[in-house]
Amino acid sequence: MEKSPVPLAGRRALEYLESVADRPVRALATSAELRQMLDRPLTGAGEPADLVINRLADAGLRGTIASQGPRYFGFVVGGSLPVATAADWLVSAWDQNCGIHALSPIVSVVEDVAASWLRELAGLPASWSVGFVTGCQMANFTAIAAARQKLLADAGWDVNAQGLFGAPPIHVFVSDESHYTIFAALRMLGLGAERLTRIPTDEQGRMRAQPLAAGLRAATGPALVCAQAGNVNSGAFDPIAEIADATRERGAWLHVDGAFGLWAAASEPRRHFVAGVDRADSVATDAHKWLNVPYDCGVAFCAHPEAHRRAMSLSAAYIVESAAERDPRDFVPEESRRARAVPVYAAIATLGRDGLADLVERTCRLASRMAERLSRHPSLRVLNDVVLNQVLVRVQQEESEQALASERAKGPGTKSTDQDLTREMIARLQQDGTCWAGGTTWHGVAALRISISNWSTTESDIDRSADAIVAATDAAVARSKA
Ligand SMILES: Cc1ncc(COP(=O)(O)O)c(C=O)c1O
Repeated sequence: MEKSPVPLAGRRALEYLESVADRPVRALATSAELRQMLDRPLTGAGEPADLVINRLADAGLRGTIASQGPRYFGFVVGGSLPVATAADWLVSAWDQNCGIHALSPIVSVVEDVAASWLRELAGLPASWSVGFVTGCQMANFTAIAAARQKLLADAGWDVNAQGLFGAPPIHVFVSDESHYTIFAALRMLGLGAERLTRIPTDEQGRMRAQPLAAGLRAATGPALVCAQAGNVNSGAFDPIAEIADATRERGAWLHVDGAFGLWAAASEPRRHFVAGVDRADSVATDAHKWLNVPYDCGVAFCAHPEAHRRAMSLSAAYIVESAAERDPRDFVPEESRRARAVPVYAAIATLGRDGLADLVERTCRLASRMAERLSRHPSLRVLNDVVLNQVLVRVQQEESEQALASERAKGPGTKSTDQDLTREMIARLQQDGTCWAGGTTWHGVAALRISISNWSTTESDIDRSADAIVAATDAAVARSKA
């Protein structure tokens, strides 16, 4: 028998992990170069395993973005705590299909324990059900499927049996700043991504509770409200307690998308941002963001376990259902699936309550440090209140509210110098590779968005990265004046 390539893969993976903090934070090869490394004619006999693993590991050194490293600030991407990576290796070694208890008793128990820790950390009641899905997109989907199930059942309609044809319409409320995955979930569930009421937001991107309450009072029939804990750009939180009051009064379903913001609950000084989340009907979050477990892992929480289960599970003659134990598939859309709760268990067990609070606080403090350093520069302007781990910054040469207001009025397509300079600064920064952060449009103007979500980021990473952003800004401004 050919010798196992697993030890080699372990060594190559360690080599990667040990170098990731020092690598440029960008791909070192083009797609054409990667294709040249990887694209081979499919053979009849197959290739030696070591050769294949070495080829993949070599390509990985050149073709990955070092998003696992401490100076990756793009999107909202956490790294992976060493213990979470280690637990994930166990998951691969076990290769459990954890759909049902009968297939993997350990995973069923690990899910149960991790679910109860997660509820405790998020301040959610012990009665809530929990499903481990691929990410917050699927957590939003799962939660809204449970909402659809219960809202229609309460209106006398069995959506599992009858589908949506002829069903009582569900009135859906979102905000102007809801994450696009909410719209994807609504679309996939037949609720329509446009058949909804958009509630306006304030300057930080928070849903305004008053127009929501008025809208809820005016609408008749089943209603679903999608609120948000943690705006993907600004990090701001919708006023969840006020939204919960309005939703409860109306007997509507409140779903909270807390992809990263829910983790504020783990930290005493920021817990107030999610006050009221325990009065929601469902909550979605990601573990692969701020908890720093490897991709992929999202979590769907539901205050109505029966609706959650009815929305997700189906039985078949050969499926062994457990009466007393957790069948993980009851709470997720998939049947066969990876044991993604195992790294969650390892991360939480190792961090403990204090370690997680420290992770959240530390990254928030680093975001403030970044904002403070950047705002010292005469041509940079921080656009958001840095309340969490997100910083929005743009090039703005003339430090005046008027300049910003007039650009906002013109909209994102505006050909202003500052818009162009901001985009140029972002391109230069990404090319430089000291750190990586992406662009966005915030209230009509181009901005660099910086998300600090990695357990390994230090003050010196922030200072180095701030220097790189300043250098990219200076280079762009100098070029425009040349
Ligand atoms: C608020 C919010 N919701 C949902 C998502 C989607 O999460 P995922 O990409 O893990 O599915 C994100 C991702 O950044 C997010 O910030």
